[in-house]
Amino acid sequence: MEIDGGLGSEATVSDVLHFVEGLLEGELNRVANMANVSALLYEYLEEINWVGFYIAEARSGDFVLGPFVGRPACTRISPPRGVIGTSVQSAKTLIVDDVLQFPEHIACDAASRSEIVVPIIVDRRVVAVIDVDSPQFSRFTVEHRTMLEAIAQKLATRWHSMQEYW
Ligand code: SME
Repeated sequence: MEIDGGLGSEATVSDVLHFVEGLLEGELNRVANMANVSALLYEYLEEINWVGFYIAEARSGDFVLGPFVGRPACTRISPPRGVIGTSVQSAKTLIVDDVLQFPEHIACDAASRSEIVVPIIVDRRVVAVIDVDSPQFSRFTVEHRTMLEAIAQKLATRWHSMQEYW
């Protein structure tokens, strides 16, 4: 698999999933894998301003900032706060078309207008989430949801075998 070249502008969802599979195949470190998945999604998705991970911290129950691409962000989210906390509580993907109308929204980048949060579920527990923000309203579709859930599933099935780095 060619990693250096990245994805061309013609890349399909299937290309992205294939690329993720290749990234995960070669590395067992969670931080490295989440960093590369963030970079890949940032490259592939158009009109987004932030993509990254928040990871469950057992001690506090908070979701703590993980690898991401975008502006510096809030470091801790305590469920049920935020779009992230709301998604974590239901253990379901949450698409918010207009974050300004979502009372629980935590604004990390004032430019964000819509958001999708996809939980990574291992042993019926949300261990992390993928979070993507866009400066456009209603940016995220059912296709985005399907693709991000497939990526979350790939990470979930490898979660235990991937080393914990913190
Ligand atoms: N908007 C999120 C917080 C994280 S940032 O978007 C990166 C929320 O409401 O949970």
